Parts: sequence; C-alpha cells; structure tokens
Amino acid sequence: MKPSLIVHGGAGNIPDSALEESQRGIRQALESGWAVLSQDGSALDAVEAAILSLEDNPSFDAGVGSYLNRDGRVQLDAILMDGATLKAGAVAAVERIRNPISLARLVLEKSDHMMLVGAGAEQFAVENGLPLCEPEDLITDRARAAWERLLEVSLATQNRESRSNGTVGAVALDSNGQLAAGTSTGGTNCKFPGRVGDSPLVGCGCYADAEAGGVSCTGYGEGIMKIVMAKMAVDLLRDPRAMTAHRKKAGSATIAQAVADACVRILARRAQAAGGLILLDCEGRAAAAFTTPHMAYGFVKSDGSFQIAS
Ligand code: GLY
Repeated sequence: MKPSLIVHGGAGNIPDSALEESQRGIRQALESGWAVLSQDGSALDAVEAAILSLEDNPSFDAGVGSYLNRDGRVQLDAILMDGATLKAGAVAAVERIRNPISLARLVLEKSDHMMLVGAGAEQFAVENGLPLCEPEDLITDRARAAWERLLEVSLATQNRESRSNGTVGAVALDSNGQLAAGTSTGGTNCKFPGRVGDSPLVGCGCYADAEAGGVSCTGYGEGIMKIVMAKMAVDLLRDPRAMTAHRKKAGSATIAQAVADACVRILARRAQAAGGLILLDCEGRAAAAFTTPHMAYGFVKSDGSFQIAS
C-alpha cells in the first residue's frame, strides 16, 4: 500500500511575520514522518516522529514554547491512537515532560489504561525510563511575553477571543495499511490550572480507525469537545451516505475534503467555535479544513513531494 502523511501546526491567526517559520516547521515535521514511512516504517512511528519535531520547535503550542497557564506554568496534553486496535495512549496536564507524544506512546504500548494525568503520568514516565525535565525548560521568552500581555487584560474574555492556537498533530497510513493519528498541545494561553481541552481526548482532538480514517483537530477545545469532532469526521468517512445533507455544499470535492469542510461548518454552527482538522481516509486521501485565518499544514502528494499551506 502507498503510505500517506498529513501534519498540522494549529489553527489560529498566524501573523505574516511568522508564516514562513510555521511552514518551515511543517516541512521539517513532514520530513521526519516521511523518513519513517518511506522506509516501510510504521504509522505509529511516523506520527510520533512528526509530532516530536513539532514539539521541539518553539514556534508551536506544544512541548517547548507552549502557552503558559494562569499561574505561569506549562501543562501539556497529548494523545496517540492506533487505528488497528482502537487503543489510544493519552496524557494530560503534565509539567515535566519535554515530549508528551512519547509519553502518550508509552501509555499506548505499556499500560492497560488509555489516559494518565498530572503526577501519575509523570510517575509512569519515570517508571518506564522517560526522563523528566525542569518545568522551566518548556518556557520560551515568546510564550512568557504572550502570557504577560494576556494577564494585563480580562482573562476570561480575552482567552476565548484572541488565541492563536498552535496545537500540533499528524495522521499517517503506512505501507502495511496501518493508520495512526496523534495530537499534542500546551492548550490555551492563560488557561485555568488543570484545564484540559479536546486534544488528548479520544474522539475529540484525535481519532483513528483503520476501517475508516484518522483525524487530528485543532482550535477552541471547549467547542471541539461539544461536537466530538474527530469521531464525527471518522463516522462521516465511514458512511458517506451521512454526507447527503452536506453534498450540495461539497460540489466536486472528494469525500475526504467534503467531510473536513462539513466538520468545521458544524463546529462553527453548533458550538460557535473556530478551529480546524486534518484527516486521511483509510486509503490515504488527505484533507484539511479550518475556519480561522490560518492553519499551517502539509501533506505528502502522490509523487512524494510536499504540499505545504497555511
Ligand atoms: N485545541 C487545544 C485546546 O483547546 O487545548
């Protein structure tokens, strides 16, 4: 089977001065994931490699460079889901993990559980040989400046209106037909301590079913959770007849693209929220949609070249 890969760096309002940097980060993530897939590596390895690259890049709201919460601390969420078994590994509100996607991978493969949070997740990391970092190692000057700016104004309203989300994600199909999806985030700027958004929740920020497709979402988590957007997208891919109501608007778009478009329309209409998603159907057809001014994303075209947009 021909492998396929799509990645995103978050839906939001990327300033013109940062667009090139975002696109460079997307290219690096595609290179990391594609290096795995083009050598017949697994979809899980490819998704982890792509997201590791984005977590290590301070341009994105994941890993190093993540937004700070109201108390000035970074709390990270991540998930990795295996489309063959429907098992996920997820972590939330971790503060001393440099690469939460790798801890999510450990939960997926070495735990009977699907999600661990906070101190328990960090304990699991230690017991499984993943080193802890200092919480300060995750904080960049840019993230601290954004936090200070937001603290100066009304927290609740500004947090909802002026985010420029940079959650990251990836979906891969490997040469054995295995499908995987993952998402990683620092959440929203100045979020309440302990707040967990859509990203690490199965069906909300991520879903993968090898029989239908894989999805990674980005945007306003409290809205995405309302419509369980990733599972909604996979269900629509599974049964395109359910797309009848959306057909007219879809025009000549592929089913995959029509599904992506329908999901962000429903997010806007039913949850009054902005966001985006990337997806692969079970044959590797890629699609992306967003309602924000930008979403940095990229995928590998059938000739092996990279298509990058924002
Ligand atoms: N979508 C990321 C978050 O709301 O936490």
